Amino acid sequence: MADLSVKISNTIFKNPIFVASGTFGYGTENPELVDVSKLGAIVTKSITLNPREGNPPPRIVETHSGMINSIGLANIGVEKYISDMLPVYENMDTPIIMNIAGSSMREYIDVMKKVEDVSSNIVGYEINISCPNVKEGGMEFGVDCDMTEKLTSELRKLTDRLLIMKLSPNVTDISAIAISSENGGADAVSAINTVVGMSINHSSQFSNIYTTFGGLSGPAIKPVGLACVHKVYHRVNIPIIGIGGIVNSDDVIEYFLAGSCSVQVGTANFRNPGITEIILHDLNNYLNEKHIDSISSLIGRVKTHG
Ligand SMILES: Cc1cc2nc3c(=O)[nH]c(=O)nc-3n(C[C@H](O)[C@H](O)[C@H](O)COP(=O)(O)O)c2cc1C
Repeated sequence: MADLSVKISNTIFKNPIFVASGTFGYGTENPELVDVSKLGAIVTKSITLNPREGNPPPRIVETHSGMINSIGLANIGVEKYISDMLPVYENMDTPIIMNIAGSSMREYIDVMKKVEDVSSNIVGYEINISCPNVKEGGMEFGVDCDMTEKLTSELRKLTDRLLIMKLSPNVTDISAIAISSENGGADAVSAINTVVGMSINHSSQFSNIYTTFGGLSGPAIKPVGLACVHKVYHRVNIPIIGIGGIVNSDDVIEYFLAGSCSVQVGTANFRNPGITEIILHDLNNYLNEKHIDSISSLIGRVKTHG
């Protein structure tokens, strides 16, 4: 049996298949469809200080090359997350990573402080500084090195749990933002969030998304995700969690070769909520057939022609 376990800072995950924020709710919605105990980790949907209804519809559209969403961080708010979700997580074996979003440094800090003030078994935080779908969804942090480093270091002071900064592909130089995250004390970065996109109905001449622009996800963005991970891999020493367009075990292997130490599956969960179990099963077979003892031995091993 190949060793599928992966290590991020001091935390060991039994396998590298996580589910991505916003595509798996709070991790408790579909117990009959997916055995969450098999997952490496669940990243819960972005939580803000106050509850949010999100953007008006239409906020999801399927295109020929992926899904565009503009959910706009609809969520129950941190108080309800603490009162309703944290107790449920106490009874789950699956590691929970809480994703936090905010429109100001204060908001990120306040949300994390509230969670740190209560007892819980969550293993870490993923900080969404890359939401393209709200006017103030952290993107001003995700495109600015100084703000990223400052935010990371302020949050670092608040927690000993895993601190993961989630990066946007919608920037000139994603490596620079990754370096700022590392300098600020992040344990890892995750990449990528969605790619800004637009969809138009030629007949009605309307934009198919209320907010005009949304975030493209699914297989179409896998090449973007791989490139971002590989660029970042050469510039930081902290682990990278690869995200974007993963639908099968081959995609996982490719993300590892590019430099990821684990992955998150997003949009594919909508098509088949049990997809991660299949990916895990196939990944195991792949490694055994190729006599690869440990998945971690593949990290960054892509052969390039230069
Ligand atoms: C409907 C939807 C909602 C999402 N909501 C969030 C969110 O709340 N927070 C976040 O950090 N990312 C969110 N994302 C981005 C995903 O976590 C992921 O980074 C992105 O979809 C790329 O992965 P994929 O191609 O496998 O879907 C969302 C994506 C989708 C499709």
